[in-house]
Amino acid sequence: MPILDQEPSKTEGDGDDLPKLPLPNLQDTLDIYLRCVKHLLTKEQFSRTQNIVKQFGVPGGEGELLQRKLVERREKTANWVYDFWLNDMYLNNRLALPVNSSPAMVFPQQNFRLPIDYLRFAAHLLSGVLEYKTLLDAHALPIDYAQGQLAGTPLCMEQYYRLFTSYRLPGPERDTLVAQESTVMPEPEHVIVACKNQFFVLDVVMNFRRLNERDLLTQLDKILKMAENEEERQPPIGLLTSNGRTEWAEARSFLMRESTNRDSLDMIERCLCLVCLDEASGPQLSDTTCAAMMLHGGGAAKNGGNRWYDKPMQFVVGADGCCGVVCEHSPFEGIVLVQCTEYLLKYMTGSPSKLVRAASLSELPAPRRLRWKFLPEIQKLISSSAEKLERLVKNLDMNVHKFYDYGKEFIKKQKMSPDAYVQVALQLAFYRCHGRPVSTYESASIRRFQQGRVDNIRSATPEALAFVKAMTEGKLSSGDTEKMELLQEAINAQTKYTILTITGKAIDNHLLGLREIAQEMKMEKPEIFKDEAYLISNQFILSTSQVPTTVEMFCCYGPVVPNGYGVCYNPQSDHIIFSVSSFHESPLTCSADFVRCLVQGLLDMRDLCNRCKHGSDSAEQRNGQMPEMHSHTKTSDKTPQRKSGQTKSQPASPQVLVRSSEQKIQTKKPS
Ligand code: COA
Repeated sequence: MPILDQEPSKTEGDGDDLPKLPLPNLQDTLDIYLRCVKHLLTKEQFSRTQNIVKQFGVPGGEGELLQRKLVERREKTANWVYDFWLNDMYLNNRLALPVNSSPAMVFPQQNFRLPIDYLRFAAHLLSGVLEYKTLLDAHALPIDYAQGQLAGTPLCMEQYYRLFTSYRLPGPERDTLVAQESTVMPEPEHVIVACKNQFFVLDVVMNFRRLNERDLLTQLDKILKMAENEEERQPPIGLLTSNGRTEWAEARSFLMRESTNRDSLDMIERCLCLVCLDEASGPQLSDTTCAAMMLHGGGAAKNGGNRWYDKPMQFVVGADGCCGVVCEHSPFEGIVLVQCTEYLLKYMTGSPSKLVRAASLSELPAPRRLRWKFLPEIQKLISSSAEKLERLVKNLDMNVHKFYDYGKEFIKKQKMSPDAYVQVALQLAFYRCHGRPVSTYESASIRRFQQGRVDNIRSATPEALAFVKAMTEGKLSSGDTEKMELLQEAINAQTKYTILTITGKAIDNHLLGLREIAQEMKMEKPEIFKDEAYLISNQFILSTSQVPTTVEMFCCYGPVVPNGYGVCYNPQSDHIIFSVSSFHESPLTCSADFVRCLVQGLLDMRDLCNRCKHGSDSAEQRNGQMPEMHSHTKTSDKTPQRKSGQTKSQPASPQVLVRSSEQKIQTKKPS
């Protein structure tokens, strides 16, 4: 298989005719960088950073030298940042994939009444996958066009062609993204079905014909029966893929010593995708439990071993109706994943199952169980992988909240960008919970350019900070008119940064390029990248992403730092779905508190817009008092702040809730 972690190979729909990603001007990036970090640093830190940045940018200095090298690189490559970005974002990351890296889409909960129902669902879904694969093979997917801001430009399609053809191979220091060569003649194709932690090869092309839904059901039924045979059962080897990448690479090299294992690994690495037939997971299903189950499988005792995390697409079908897709993120972004899964769900609702009665009776050869030869080292590594996964399961603090009070139509009526508005609401929520701003990541697509992936909208703008302070610190001087002006300024700043990013002029990819090219040139690391400010600005305590859907489902993922939040949101016309994650082990975070602050902020922002629209800036409101709120969203406690020592059921009323490591919860009284 060719290596994909350098330059992806060319296929039709790659977007060769799209413009190349621009290289921002050095001085512009340095100015924006200073503006982005100033309010996140102390005065002393900032003054030091200012000097370092000035030194880096002096005429004839390090910055200009590195910039010239990037200019040359841009001329020679289709996308100057692609491989730097891929390594930095994914392949160099040693953390375990579940929760830390792999996002998931959660389907609407299914109601399977009979055991056969869930096999039928899986067969129907798989038949949709094969149909979609036919479209991909024929390069028949319509080109995507940008929507929302600067709508209408064509987008690079190459990510789609990696959905079913790539594999993330673990390495001792860096992983490798590998891809199967596309061939003119259709190759025999197979999927891997995971059931009771066993892996089975299901050939989906036989005698040059793709299996139909009926055949697929027959084969899945055989797999279920084979998996039930306890005598044949093999240890839960899939758990190894849930471990840290270096540990998994080590385990894989042990496995590779035996030819049986090499053959089995080869079958998994070359499959189209996995179908994970999960057992019922125990607790009563809710959006939150389903999201957690998709992200980690519930650990070794549940479905955690019924996965192979290196494979980009794992379709999970749970006997209890908890279904979705878990994705290895390095080959593509969530938006491409959504397009594919929406196709599948529409296929399933638009073309009713063709299985009228029982499954096919035709004599298809039985699927094969993958065999493994276990060395004592492997048994130990499976046990340690199980322990690590268990810790991750216990650690994940997931909270999915459907906010029903309004959606993007209300925001559009205020003549504001819904995405910018939600980002400002997230800044308000964080400030309310923690009393300070933090470096924030919002992914923005740069697919307008050749091989474009994403860059970062730094949503913690100084304008957002001014607004959230006015909303939370209850200053006597902040009346509605002033708050509304600050809200407008925050939204404008956010929208401006969005446009900067989607047009390829943001700073994160540029700074990464400068840092990496210095390393490639074997230069000593420039001071700007050793500076504390750079580290602080890259600790994304708030990691956010808009993943909108047109079909009922939602996306979720974990936080990217131990003391942070992962917030994925899906704005709909009249409601917004938020998936908030954090880690229980951090004394600083709590997903339920964050959601409560978020809900309160969204309601406050709506009320502010309504009051200002109706021209009522009464003396009472000028004094910072909130009018009564009416909410459709069920929250146990409208004011989310808690005093130190208070239990969750006791409401409190300060405007800002601060968590610190010394004291689990501190409250900061309104000034
Ligand atoms: N007044 C009224 N309407 C407005 C408006 C305003 N001031 N500003 C925007 N709108 C409208 C837009 O026209 C658009 O309308 P539509 O729903 O009819 O298309 C809608 O509001 C949404 O626009 P907006 O909220 O501004 O955001 P967007 O859709 O342009 O999205 C990003 C912004 C950054 C999320 C998007 O560009 C992007 O990059 N998405 C990909 C993110 C990603 O990669 N996620 C997955 C990571 S794994």
